[in-house]
Amino acid sequence: MSIAPLNLGFIGLGNVGTGVAKILTEQAARIARRAGRPVAIRKVAVRDMSKPRDIHLPAGCLTTDVQAVIRDPEIHVAVELMGGLKPAREVVLACLEAGKDVVTANKALLCEHGDEIFQTARRLGRTVAFEAAVAGGIPIIAAVGQSMAANQLQQLQAILNGTSNYILTEMLLRQQSYATALKGAQDLGYAEADPALDVNGTDAAQKLGLLVQLAWGTKIPTAAFHVSGIDRLEQTDIRYATELGYTIKLLASARTVQEKLQISVRPTLIRKDRPLAGIHGPFNAILLDGDVVGNVWFSGRGAGQMPTASAVTADIIDMAIGRAQLTFKRLDLWGETPPVAVLTEAESVSRYYLRLAVEDRPHVMADVTDILGRHGISLASVVQPESPEFEGNADVPVVPLIIMTHKTTAGQLAAADRDLAKLSTVRDPHVCLAVAD
Ligand code: NAP
Ligand code: HSE
Repeated sequence: MSIAPLNLGFIGLGNVGTGVAKILTEQAARIARRAGRPVAIRKVAVRDMSKPRDIHLPAGCLTTDVQAVIRDPEIHVAVELMGGLKPAREVVLACLEAGKDVVTANKALLCEHGDEIFQTARRLGRTVAFEAAVAGGIPIIAAVGQSMAANQLQQLQAILNGTSNYILTEMLLRQQSYATALKGAQDLGYAEADPALDVNGTDAAQKLGLLVQLAWGTKIPTAAFHVSGIDRLEQTDIRYATELGYTIKLLASARTVQEKLQISVRPTLIRKDRPLAGIHGPFNAILLDGDVVGNVWFSGRGAGQMPTASAVTADIIDMAIGRAQLTFKRLDLWGETPPVAVLTEAESVSRYYLRLAVEDRPHVMADVTDILGRHGISLASVVQPESPEFEGNADVPVVPLIIMTHKTTAGQLAAADRDLAKLSTVRDPHVCLAVAD
């Protein structure tokens, strides 16, 4: 007796969708064995029928009518890979209302509308699975949501945006310009449809928000914590960081400090001998510190067609087996745990790297260090390279001054920076980057 297939309706057949369709068609026997039944692609909604596609699908599968997926009663699982918020929100809600479970890789959607989507799914007895939404091919949602269930996370440090990490790697190791490296990330299928989300830190912040929600059971909107990206990073700072023994990464971090959460996404100097500093290209990595297990480390491809498709396909298999449904029922998501307070940015503690442009005159160094000292900021090292980097048209040479601080609060640093800006001998820019512990 043949077993009835699990029928899928895709919404989106772009970079990731094509990868999933390739696995399901090229590895059909393996997937059926693992899923306990065949998995069939029944319909695929796209925007443009005339686009060339790197996949051969059964005739009549492809449509531009999303409603054809939503209304098909034979489709059990909708695989949302269109991205963005609109119309993805309406499409996902309509699929749930139509009695379908949903697999999605859309972190922007879950970050913005997760409450509504999860509550709707719960009300209707449906399931949403989203392993591919964070860190591409790394099974971090399962790890945090299930495998580390005995723990309360104390700390999470991660590289969660493959595009930014690829750009930083190309700039550091191959001296590529920012623009060339970004184009490379787009050509390789790592970037979002709007790559500004990658390079301004938003994509990493959305992923961090999902991980924090899973691990601490509390929703922290991205507007409630510091988010900055690599889009304003200068090659000069990448070079000085290297000379000082550090690598700059877009670091997403969350940790419990005195019963509050300190959370941020920002370019951060990481000592070269730390594992996160050695994560290159589109790879992601996540370091978790659980109160029972201690440190656990994950790394792998965080962006790109097949790594992401690997995670989406795992969710589809879990749907076929019924494991996703069981997990979803028990996940402590969106709503039930009391909120955890978040440290304000001014209260957040870190070490910092400062780069100032100062006039090369007597007493300038003393003035700068005096201001930092008066704000309680202790200095770990100060370097003023001998040859002027930029002279402007002034008669006094202007030189860079690189300062590494000990731990201080962002509030103290901001106050010191306001006083530094009043010194006529300190010019722009004032670059300030966090330094990881
Ligand atoms: P993509 O290449 O831009 O593909 C989007 C697909 O959705 C295309 O097939 C497009 O149709 C279709 N689409 C868009 N709007 C539509 C509409 N209104 N109606 C019907 N179809 C529509 O995007 P992607 O890189 O595959 O990413 C998909 C999702 O995965 C996003 O949520 C992204 O954040 C997430 N993700 C991506 C990666 C990655 O490495 N790329 C990794 C993890 C998660 P056409 O083909 O006709 O244009
Ligand atoms: N644009 C994302 C990134 C895709 O570069 O990490 C993976 O979520």
